[in-house]
Amino acid sequence: MSDAEKPNATQAEATSTKPRRRGCLGHCARFWWAYLIALIVVIVVVVPVILLVAVPKIAQKKLDEAELTLDGLTVTQTTPTQMLMSLNSTIRTDGSVHANIAGFEGIMYLEDLEPRTPFARIQFPPTTAAALQTVNVTQTLTIHDVAALTTFNTWLANNETVRVTVEGDTTVRVRGIARNYGVTFKKTLTLAGLNKLAGTRVEPTLISLTPDANGNNFRATVYIPNPSVVSIELGNITFRNYLLGQEVGTIFLDNLTLRPGTNVHPMRATIENGPVIAALGSKPFCEEGGVLPFEFSGESVVNNGEPLPYFADALKTFNQTTEIPIGAQVKKDLDVTIPCGGLGGGNNEEEED
Ligand SMILES: *[C@@H]1O[C@H](CO)[C@@H](O)[C@H](O)[C@H]1NC(C)=O
Ligand SMILES: *[C@@H]1O[C@H](CO)[C@@H](O)[C@H](O)[C@H]1NC(C)=O
Ligand SMILES: *[C@@H]1O[C@H](CO)[C@@H](O)[C@H](O)[C@H]1NC(C)=O
Ligand SMILES: *[C@@H]1O[C@H](CO)[C@@H](O)[C@H](O)[C@H]1NC(C)=O
Ligand SMILES: *[C@@H]1O[C@H](CO)[C@@H](O)[C@H](O)[C@H]1NC(C)=O
Ligand SMILES: *[C@@H]1O[C@H](CO)[C@@H](O)[C@H](O)[C@H]1NC(C)=O
Repeated sequence: MSDAEKPNATQAEATSTKPRRRGCLGHCARFWWAYLIALIVVIVVVVPVILLVAVPKIAQKKLDEAELTLDGLTVTQTTPTQMLMSLNSTIRTDGSVHANIAGFEGIMYLEDLEPRTPFARIQFPPTTAAALQTVNVTQTLTIHDVAALTTFNTWLANNETVRVTVEGDTTVRVRGIARNYGVTFKKTLTLAGLNKLAGTRVEPTLISLTPDANGNNFRATVYIPNPSVVSIELGNITFRNYLLGQEVGTIFLDNLTLRPGTNVHPMRATIENGPVIAALGSKPFCEEGGVLPFEFSGESVVNNGEPLPYFADALKTFNQTTEIPIGAQVKKDLDVTIPCGGLGGGNNEEEED
């Protein structure tokens, strides 16, 4: 049995391998030129297609899939022509491609406003395609286009969210391939805006009938929420102050840097007494403890003696309404309660009853 099987097995091996080898020898020898052409095609066409088309496409695709988040943005030393900008950002990728991305200049523009005019140019440092990496940039930002920067600041000041696109051409070097591939870095960020400074609160600390040395008759602590990740050195700001549609004075916030979160800051103001007293004595305010709805909108922003119109013009575009408990402070500082119908006459005593 074993004797009979063995030759069978070897024969089977022989029949299965020998004709193939013999076939290739004959085939390959006769058609060597076809194999050479195929090899040349691979070298001349396929490899370059992979290197010139597939790899850059993959590199671009991986870059497009990467996610950019802005963790913090600070502008300081603000002047009419430049400012110092510092940002912390994070780039997340799936980490599958080992590549180095060259440093590049990125432009920033509002995604939702045509035409797309850059308001800033940022020098991004070289990065890798690591799964998670922080990119921090500190640079002097020269203001090339005041109008575009003013528009960006206006959107940031007014809106709940602002979409900003960062775009720039750079090169990628994939590990193992000694070539730089041109790619475009383009990411749209959704940033929280200042939302018209909604939620601003004013707590009066001093009200006087006669102005102080600065001409101010009103002092308060102001609480300004900043829901964004942006910190801005503004300097000295003034706001126009309105009461019931009428301009009644000026608010001053000195040396203000608006930081993320709630900003607690001293406030001083020069406010006309007449309209305030009239409002305190009229309904419904006299019945509600003298809480008056003041409106304010930006007037000027001056830092170290230099006007910054790209901030001031943004703050001019909206009014923020703040309910200020004036009546209680008037009672405290001036020892007067203004009754419905105003001061004077016997109304005062009737109110007390
Ligand atoms: C960036 O992060 C560092 C370290 O946490 C911090 O000191 C700095 O204020 C941040 N800068 C910005 C612009 O958020
Ligand atoms: C960037 O700043 C972050 C803080 O936001 C810090 O954790 C990180 O180490 C910094 N990265 C670099 C490369 O400096
Ligand atoms: C953002 O605010 C500006 C100025 O108020 C306004 O014109 C624009 O439509 C707003 N954009 C979005 C997307 O809300
Ligand atoms: C703010 O309100 C005042 C009074 O109601 C008005 O005269 C002014 O035009 C408003 N400003 C803006 C920018 O809407
Ligand atoms: C504002 O800053 C300047 C210089 O730093 C200082 O002289 C001035 O007293 C500050 N004013 C207020 C109101 O804090
Ligand atoms: C704000 O104004 C005050 C008084 O005019 C001045 O002493 C101070 O230096 C100004 N602050 C800034 C940041 O410009």
